[in-house]
Amino acid sequence: MKIKENQNLRHFNTFGIDASCRLMVEYESIKDLLSFIKDIRFRNLPHLHIGEGSNLLFLKDYDGVVLRSAIRQTRQLQSDRPDEIRLQVGGGLKWDTLVASTLRHGWYGLENLSLIPGTVGAAAVQNIGAYGAEAGDFIESVTCINLQTGERRTFAHDECHYAYRHSYFKSAEAWGQWAVIYVNLRLSRHFTPNLSYGRLREELEHRSLKPEQVTPQQLRDIIIDIRRSKLPDPRVQGNAGSFFKNPIVGRDVYEKLVKHYERVPHFEVDDTHVKIPAAWLIEQCGWKGKSMGTAAVHDVQPLVLVNLGGAKGRDIAELSEAVRHDVSERFGIDIQPEVNFI
Ligand code: EPU
Repeated sequence: MKIKENQNLRHFNTFGIDASCRLMVEYESIKDLLSFIKDIRFRNLPHLHIGEGSNLLFLKDYDGVVLRSAIRQTRQLQSDRPDEIRLQVGGGLKWDTLVASTLRHGWYGLENLSLIPGTVGAAAVQNIGAYGAEAGDFIESVTCINLQTGERRTFAHDECHYAYRHSYFKSAEAWGQWAVIYVNLRLSRHFTPNLSYGRLREELEHRSLKPEQVTPQQLRDIIIDIRRSKLPDPRVQGNAGSFFKNPIVGRDVYEKLVKHYERVPHFEVDDTHVKIPAAWLIEQCGWKGKSMGTAAVHDVQPLVLVNLGGAKGRDIAELSEAVRHDVSERFGIDIQPEVNFI
């Protein structure tokens, strides 16, 4: 177990915000974690469990304990079905390391979630999603430690309450209470490409690839190319991927918009709801590529806010408020941040 006092967090949040925390604790086992949560320093301070900090915005120094998991082992579990693979994966493993290794083994399902920053544990909390897939679709259960009591509990898939960028662990009731130790996944030995996302089918056509021909590695490569072409690399320019969630609105709201705009991009949710890309709403408000001091709206993907260099958490938060305000004024739609403000 590694314990550091007054740790600078710049390299522990992908926005590259220069904040610090009172203590940083990296645990290598459940035993480590259980012994630390009895420590007086832990009992007297607030705590925050992070993954790779790819969905966090530090508004100020964190006067508490930042926890990180160094449990990164992957273990194959028994399965009764020959076409299925069950894995237990340590919460501290990098998500994309997992995706790449499953493909190498011939275990399929996670291709569309390639190159998403963050850890496996954070993926299970955040229910990361991209290109028509969500982590929750593959999660069988999540094994956690309660940070107050030390209780070990495995949450079955249904208890995780997965929804768009949401889970039980993000609910007000559970937030901050559970450390994800293992995520248990169910994958397939048979590759069935998930081409439900329009942009993916276009990309296949562009490369003259037929859906039935595409290999898992080609699909991963395409996803990686699309992400790299649109999303800024946090190592080059601080950012946390999509800053806002795409709003889900009533069909009536959408119908009203269609009367005013020639083309309103949207995704069907159910009979009465549609999802509207926040990127479109932000672009319509003229924010694409605009900056406010050291914080900016990305010029290719306006759903992403970037640190132009030296931005404080507050600078990013002020920009996000200005964008949110304008979207609300113009469209009457409240776009909610998906990034957690700390
Ligand atoms: N659009 C514009 N202007 C732009 C860019 C996009 O109007 O400048 C519109 C277009 O109509 C486009 C639509 O937005 O078709 C959707 O854009 P994109 O495919 O880039 O996806 P997104 O809805 O902006 C979501 C996720 C991403 C994920 C992609 C692909 C959220 C909050 N974001 O973005 O996730 O990679 O879909 O599935 O749901 C993340 O969460 O950090 C993230 C990057």
